[in-house]
Amino acid sequence: MTQDELKKAVGWAALKYVQPGTVVGVGTGSTAAHFIDALGTMKHQIEGAVSSSEASTLKLKSLGIPVFDLNEIDQLAVYVDGADEINPQMQMIKGGGAALTREKIIAAVADKFICIADATKEVDVLGRFPLPVEVIPMARAYVARELVKLGGLPEYRQHVVTDNGNIILDVHNLSILDPIALEKSINALPGVVTVGLFATRGADIALIGTADGVKTIEK
Ligand code: 5RP
Repeated sequence: MTQDELKKAVGWAALKYVQPGTVVGVGTGSTAAHFIDALGTMKHQIEGAVSSSEASTLKLKSLGIPVFDLNEIDQLAVYVDGADEINPQMQMIKGGGAALTREKIIAAVADKFICIADATKEVDVLGRFPLPVEVIPMARAYVARELVKLGGLPEYRQHVVTDNGNIILDVHNLSILDPIALEKSINALPGVVTVGLFATRGADIALIGTADGVKTIEK
C-alpha cells in the first residue's frame, strides 16, 4: 500500500468515532483531508464541523458541511487530526502544515483527540521531524536565538504565513526526551504563539495505518 492509501484508510476509519447530531473537530493536512471526504458521506447526520485551518474550511464547505466558529460551540466530543510524529505516550509533533495553533486550540476544547496517521509517523523519541514553532514576525530573530540555546537549529520556513499572520521556525537537531518540559519552555518565550509539541495534551486514541490494516491504540 502507498503512504496515501494508508492515510486514506485511517481517515475513513475515524468515521466510527463521529457521533450523529454533534459538531466535529477537524484537523489539517493530507490525512485529515481523507477524513473530511469520509465525513462528507454523513453530512446529513452531523450538525457540522469546527475547522483548524482555512484550507480545511474550504474543503468542508465544498462538501456542504456547515463550519462553525469555535466560540459558538460549548462542547466538542471529538477532534480528528493527523500528526508528523507520534510516540508511545501518544505525544505528537504537529504543524507540518503550519496549522498548529488552531489545531492546539481545538484539541484543548475536545473531549477526545483522535490521531490518524500512517505508520511512518510512529517514533520512539520525538524530534526527527523538525519541530514547528509559530512566531510573531517581529520576534523571529530573538526566538531563533533562544531556540539555539535550547540545543535546536531553527530554520525559517520561507514563503509561509500562517492563517494567523505569523511565521514558522522549524527546529532541527532536537532529541525530545522530556516533551512536556520542552513544550512549556518554548511556549514561555515571548513572541512564541504556539509550539507544535502536543505533549501536555496528547492524543487519546491513535489510528495507525499499517500494511496489515488499521491499528488502534488507546491511552
Ligand atoms: C498540519 C499538521 C498535520 O496534521 C501534519 O503535518 C500531518 O500532515 P499529513 O496528514 O499531510 O501527513 O499538523 O499543521
